[in-house]
Amino acid sequence: MTALALARGLGENGAPEVAVGTLTRFGVSLDDDLLDRFDRMIERKGYTNRSEALRDLIREALVRDQWDIGTTEAVGTLTLVYNHEVRELADKLTDLQHAHYHSIVSTLHVHLDPHHCLEVLVLRGKAAELKAIADRLIGTRGVKHGTFSATAEGRLLA
Ligand code: NI
Repeated sequence: MTALALARGLGENGAPEVAVGTLTRFGVSLDDDLLDRFDRMIERKGYTNRSEALRDLIREALVRDQWDIGTTEAVGTLTLVYNHEVRELADKLTDLQHAHYHSIVSTLHVHLDPHHCLEVLVLRGKAAELKAIADRLIGTRGVKHGTFSATAEGRLLA
């Protein structure tokens, strides 16, 4: 199943997933101008209806809140770009990752060119710890760019 299919709530055959909970409809009062801007944004992003766009916004807020709380179980990906020829950098990054092996589920290494490497790490554990590990790796001298993407375990996303 593709990430896109997952994000859209589609099952293996592309059909909508069967809802686990009960569905509740509620009315929202919005300023016309705000609603107009919202509709234009969701159309640009390819949503076919407001409900799906709203569900994604709510999930996004819930994930962000989990990360703010810090003690909840979370998952995330960290992308690093660095020059492996910088003295001791590759060793330093490997040492740091081994020090947190329990939180790093998987790594992917791509040799971008003769000098640069790209690494993608999948992290799983307490949100605050994952953020600290990501900050430490991104902040390591010689890492040219790093981005951390915080998400949540699927069961928490309803
Ligand atoms: Ni490399």
